[in-house]
Order: sequence, then C-alpha cells, then structure tokens
Amino acid sequence: MAERTVTVTDNTTGKVVELPVLEGTNGPRTIDIGKLYKNLGYFTYDPGFVSTASCDSQITYIDGEQGLLRYRGYPIEQLAEHSTFLEVCYLLLHGELPNKDKFDAFENRLKTHTLLDEKMRRFYLGFHNNSHPMAMMVATVGAMSAFYHDQIDVHDATSRETAAYRLIAKVPTMAAWVYKYTVGQPFIYPDNRFDYVTNFLYMMFGLPPVNYRPSPSFVRAMDLILILHADHEQNASTSTVRLAGSSGANPYAALSAGISSLWGPAHGGANEAVINMLEDIVQSDKDVNYYIERAKDKQSQFRLMGFGHRVYKNYDPRAKIIREVCHQLLGELGEDNPNRPLFDTAMELEQIALEDDYFIQRKLYPNVDFYSGIILRAMGIPLNMFTVIFALARTVGWISHWKEHMSDPQARIGRPRQLYTGEDQRNYVHIDERD
Ligand code: CMC
Repeated sequence: MAERTVTVTDNTTGKVVELPVLEGTNGPRTIDIGKLYKNLGYFTYDPGFVSTASCDSQITYIDGEQGLLRYRGYPIEQLAEHSTFLEVCYLLLHGELPNKDKFDAFENRLKTHTLLDEKMRRFYLGFHNNSHPMAMMVATVGAMSAFYHDQIDVHDATSRETAAYRLIAKVPTMAAWVYKYTVGQPFIYPDNRFDYVTNFLYMMFGLPPVNYRPSPSFVRAMDLILILHADHEQNASTSTVRLAGSSGANPYAALSAGISSLWGPAHGGANEAVINMLEDIVQSDKDVNYYIERAKDKQSQFRLMGFGHRVYKNYDPRAKIIREVCHQLLGELGEDNPNRPLFDTAMELEQIALEDDYFIQRKLYPNVDFYSGIILRAMGIPLNMFTVIFALARTVGWISHWKEHMSDPQARIGRPRQLYTGEDQRNYVHIDERD
C-alpha cells in the first residue's frame, strides 16, 4: 500500500475504500482511482480532464499556477536562449541533451529520411486547389502508413525509433509541399547541405530558378517558434495521439489523428484565428473596445483568440519569451508596412485586455499563439500555414509521447467510461404505429 492514501466513503451504503496517492517528481499528488469501480461501483466524472491525469510521463512538466514549462527538466527559457530546435528534438525523444558526436549522428541520420517516396507526389496532385494545408497534412501524414505499414512493428523499440526519425525528418518536406501545392509552385526537394530549419524554409520559399537562402534572423525566429511549440504534455492533440496509438495503430495514422485534433481554433488553430480576428477588427468600423465588450458578453459566442489557457492561470511562459521577440520585430517594421494597422490593433488589444478586470479576474493572458500568429505574419508566412508550422514543431512531442506509451509494459488501450444520460430501455414500435 502507498504511504499516503485517501479514504472514500459512500455515505449511503457506508462502504469504504482506501485509495493510494501517487507522487511525481513535481506537481500535485494524484489519487489512483483504478480500484474505485471494482470496490465501490462508481465511475468518476471529469469532462475536459480538469482534475484527471490520463497517464504518467517523464517528458514535459507544466505548472500552470507558477507559469513553468520544462522539457525533460530543462526550463523553456534556457532552451529558448541557448538551444536549437533539433537539439530539443533529441532531448524530447531521448531524454538527455546530446554531446557533439551524438548530435551529429542524430542530424545525419535524420538527413537520410528527408525525402518522400516519389509516389507521394501524385498524392498531393489529387487535392482540390484551394484545400486547406491542414487538411492535406492530415491526409498525407496518414498516408505514410500506407507507404511504411509493412516495416513497422509497434512492439519493437528499433522499429519505433525508425518511425520517429522518419516523421521528424519528413514532416518539414510534407509541410513545404502542401504550401507549394496551394500556390501552384514546383515542389522543392530537401537539400541536406542545410540544417533542419534552413532546409524547411528553403523547401517552402525556394524556387528552381532562384538561389534562395533564408536570412539567419529568419531561421533563428523560426527555430524559436519551433522550440516553444515542441511539446506541451497531455494537451488535446498529444492525448489524441496516445489514445489512437494505444490500440496498437500505426504511428503515422496516430499522428494524423493528432494533427486533426490540433487544427481546431481552441488549440493549434488559434494562431490562424488570431490573425482572422485582427483582420476583422481592422476592416470593421468598430474600435477594439467593442470587441473586448463582445468577448465579455455571455450572450455572444465571441472569444478573444490568443487569450486564455486551460493550464496556465499565471502567464504562459512561452508567451513571455515570444512577446519580447514580437515587440522587437514590430518595433523594427516601418510605418508604411502593409500589416501596420493589424499589428497596431494587436498591441492595443493586448494592452486593454491586460488591464481589464474581466480578463484579470479570469487570468486570461495572451498565450503563445497570440504572439506566434503575429510573428509568423510579420515573417511573411501565409496565414493558412500557421497551424501547419505548429504541427511541424509538435511532431517530435507527439512521437515522443507515442514512444513512451508504447514502450511501457503496463500500457493498456485507452478506454474512458461515461455517465449515460440517454433514454432508459424502451421497446421497438413499428413505423406505422409511431406518431
Ligand atoms: N475570451 C473571452 N473569454 C474567455 C476566453 C477568451 N479567449 N477564454 C476563456 N474565457 C472565459 C470563459 O468565458 C469563462 O468565463 P466564465 O467563468 O465567466 O464562464 C472563463 O474565461 C473560463 O473559460 P473556460 O472556457 O472554462 O476555459 P478553458 O480552460 O476551458 O478554455 C481555452 C481554455 C484556451 C480553450 C480558452 O481560453 C479559449 O477558447 N481561448 C481562445 C482560443 C485560444 O487562444 N486557444 C489557444 C490555446 S494556447 C495553444 C495551445 O496550447 O493549444
């Protein structure tokens, strides 16, 4: 029996059950309710998983009250300042920061997987010409399960690692190609002389007749955005990947499910929704205060996109880092920049919301996607690619969680229960006899 327990008493029957309390390295103590149903006949009810840990994990730690985020124990602020996205990928995947030799071997191995099977080209050509890039990502990442199905044994560690490397290496190529398809430009093949992030930008913005090279500041800004989005413990998309993978499904299919979950505006789609909202404000004849009042009005469905977070009830630490970059970038933009009205509106909104009682009382601060949306716009990234870039960054987080789940000998298929509130049993009535 665990040292600490919690006793649950059924006040109607008098039955008692003692439940073990689990302690992690950090974070709240956790009551293990696994025996509750067997011993007391009750389920627990927690829609939205507000108080429920769905698994134990060693990858990422968040403290929402203090505004902390750590990957494998390392504070996000230190990683953002000193590390690179590829090093963070190694850390998330393998649990430790690599030495120079290990990093070089990691990078070189990834480079052997950057190409897509040439038959994938035809897959892209089948999409409608105005398909959303996230729809194409869901389909093409899922389609990888058709290309690599025979080679994956999800119960074999080596096979799982190969799938992880393939995904981390190929997703930038896939992300760049969905963009190329939407703008009608030729697909650009990866060039392994470049580092990971440069290669992605080269495939996205390069053209055969042009010797395109992204500037170092462009590469660094993108690298930072990728580091900040690389993992975020058991969020909706990561939980989706774990749940889909828990049945033993192919990892490419499980990741495709994660990409679907990420797409929504309450999750990864928020960075795109932020710009749509700012454009609406700029184009309307109403001022920012009108939108603030609308967001506070409970009769309206409108929410300020890029504000609030399920876990961070202090400040989102990623937002703190990226806010500085955002303000610096906007300060450097000329007054005649076509996006100036949009950026000015964003800054006005940020200031009003930070001082408004409604937002202060509910601890609704700007989140990472408020600033990443603005930065991506300032960098000239097309709006419909914002969430794709989030997916690119999160691929390493998803696959690390999938690997963790699959390598746990105690892992079982995820199977939530429910509180049934539908009709009680009733008898079938023939169609001629129904009202
Ligand atoms: N604008 C106005 N009011 C809000 C907002 C908002 N953006 N977010 C929450 N509220 C209010 C909400 O109406 C509720 O008020 P009351 O207590 O009076 O009923 C209170 O704040 C708590 O909201 P909730 O819906 O219970 O909070 P949640 O934890 O379920 O939702 C959220 C978190 C992120 C989905 C939500 O804040 C939201 O919809 N934000 C806008 C979308 C967004 O920016 N999402 C990106 C999240 S960060 C990226 C990621 O990690 O995926």
